Amino acid sequence: MERRNERSCAPRVLILVFRARHRQSARYCLKAELKVKIMDTKVSSRWTRRNFVASATTTLAFSGFANYSFATQEPAMNQRHSEAGNGPLHVIVDTDPGVDDALALLLAMRSPELKIEAITAVAGNVPLELTLPNALRMVEIAGRTEIPVAAGAQAPLVRRLVTAAYAHGENGLGGAVFPEPKIKAVAEPAAELIRNIVRKYPGEVTLLTIGPLTNVAAALNSDPELAGIMRSLVMMGGSLSGGNITPAAEFNVYVDPEAARIVFQSGIPVTMVGLDVTRKTSLTDEHVRVLEAGQNAVSQAAGKIARNAIQHNREQGFLVGPNMHDSLAVAAFLDPSFLKWKEYYVDVETAGELTAGETLGYSPSAGDLRRRPEMEKQAALNMPIRGSAPTLASTRTSPVVRDKFVPNAKVAVDVDSSRFFELLIGRLSGNK
Ligand code: BDR
Ligand code: CA
Repeated sequence: MERRNERSCAPRVLILVFRARHRQSARYCLKAELKVKIMDTKVSSRWTRRNFVASATTTLAFSGFANYSFATQEPAMNQRHSEAGNGPLHVIVDTDPGVDDALALLLAMRSPELKIEAITAVAGNVPLELTLPNALRMVEIAGRTEIPVAAGAQAPLVRRLVTAAYAHGENGLGGAVFPEPKIKAVAEPAAELIRNIVRKYPGEVTLLTIGPLTNVAAALNSDPELAGIMRSLVMMGGSLSGGNITPAAEFNVYVDPEAARIVFQSGIPVTMVGLDVTRKTSLTDEHVRVLEAGQNAVSQAAGKIARNAIQHNREQGFLVGPNMHDSLAVAAFLDPSFLKWKEYYVDVETAGELTAGETLGYSPSAGDLRRRPEMEKQAALNMPIRGSAPTLASTRTSPVVRDKFVPNAKVAVDVDSSRFFELLIGRLSGNK
């Protein structure tokens, strides 16, 4: 991965910043992996691309790959918040509401740890003509009309839009009807707004993406330096254990695989919250009852959407759900301690006739590649990332697409669902 853009720093400051971040990331990984206590609590814990890479290297150097447990991973949100002590974290939520997006937006807007700089709408679950007003509606319901909402892409980068009205209802909210929003979207298109905000707070902004990644890819395409000054990107998207719209692909990545590939290859530290964990977040009647009993506008709206979505799911013949995919991604950013994490090099299939949108997680300790622990470090450093074998027509001589393993994403591999629902329902209902 390339260098982070920190040209504005004086060289000496830069070195100090690097060292501080490196120390912190080392502390983070060691703590997670080796449970070593290092007393360095004053160092900022910002998870930048550089310390992501540094931490990956540190992790490799000491004990193979991160495989964090519920018990050892700290709530990064609380950790960052209390250590930094400088107030909420800058985030942009990119979304395609969407039943679970709607609840995720409400969760984000009910989370004081977050400073939501913008909400950007994208076509996905339903067309942009619906996702945009749905996002505006959620902002009004939450009473957060100071948050700018921007219209984004109407279609994926190079494909026709495929929607998921079968899961979210024709209006995207499971059939739950709300009045037309009174507030309007800002004039700036989503990609431009993302770019301007990230440039305004270099190294500070995290993108929480809970829809197809078209807007983000468009922003990255428009500004080659942008990836280097983003703090991180936490996505609901992808799966290392099969898809939901095809056997291979998860919906958000399926809709715009080219965009997802741009994101994974951008060098932004990516946190992937995919179907591997979001499948374990099925909403129940009991959750809905708690929301319906909540005496505030957010709880009432969430209850109404959830009630309709459960009904819609039943009518469609689904046995469970709906799953709270997107809320889990937001919650994982708020408190990663109730998930287990593992580092991978994730790439996206864009060429397949049947498999476009599949996310592949490369790891020296995955599947048949498992090795004895003492050999993992060496294996990791030497492990090439292989693509499909070349065809006879190809001029390539080798199927190796990267000659070394370097992780580009932290992937959630397990979740404590009851802790997640405690957070989600607690915050939406106003009970916590
Ligand atoms: C994702 O796809 C959408 O249908 C949901 O809103 C979620 O973002 C799950 O695959
Ligand atoms: Ca979504």
